[in-house]
Amino acid sequence: MQTKILCVCGSSRRDSLNQKLLEIAALGATQEGGAATHIRLRDFQLPIYDGDMETTHGLPRQALELKELLAQHHALLIATPEYNGGYSGLLKNALDWMSRPTQGGPSGVQGFSGKFAALVSASPGALGGLRSQIVLQMTLSKLGLLVIPDAFALSRAHEAFDEWGQLKDPAADQLAREVGAALVRRAGTSTNGFRQASHDGIHSGESPTRAVN
Ligand code: FNR
Repeated sequence: MQTKILCVCGSSRRDSLNQKLLEIAALGATQEGGAATHIRLRDFQLPIYDGDMETTHGLPRQALELKELLAQHHALLIATPEYNGGYSGLLKNALDWMSRPTQGGPSGVQGFSGKFAALVSASPGALGGLRSQIVLQMTLSKLGLLVIPDAFALSRAHEAFDEWGQLKDPAADQLAREVGAALVRRAGTSTNGFRQASHDGIHSGESPTRAVN
């Protein structure tokens, strides 16, 4: 089974440095045999989470679409910009809506639980947005995602790409790709392990990995 990676960027900016870095990390995932799906959160236009809106109208269509995309993938590859030491409100809002249950459905957190995630970040600053990764790790772990240790923070990112969006430094390019590749290896092992266990009759009940065909 091909390991399916959902690639999400916390910045919807047209010339986002994080989106460029994400695309390079995703190349590492496909080189490792995975299938990468790219989405832009701009295309989902979610309202800011509002409990009254949820009670009255249920989840917005865009939140349901994101939840469905999550269900169709084994792992998340996330690029996060750093905003004031944290990650972006755009990404937090999407995760918050996705964590909510559909009406009469199971806990929304179940959709994340047991899946793998890998993080990259890019910033013009010297730390490459590293702090945003630390804060994001806490949220993802709370959701039950397994954040792999392989990660990359690209510092001075405004000078790092050429006009075609490629990283000028081959070492940085290799490090970014390795994050995607490592995610496929981890999630792939998990997927195969799940299938083997299923064949052996060890697993019973629902599992998030079953949502992926
Ligand atoms: C920033 N930026 C920033 N950078 C950083 O290294 N640490 C930080 O705490 C912040 N804080 C911050 C707050 C806000 C509100 C903005 C708009 C920006 C700079 C940020 O890293 C830079 O704009 C990146 O280029 C944003 O990522 P994208 O859009 O290029 O992917």
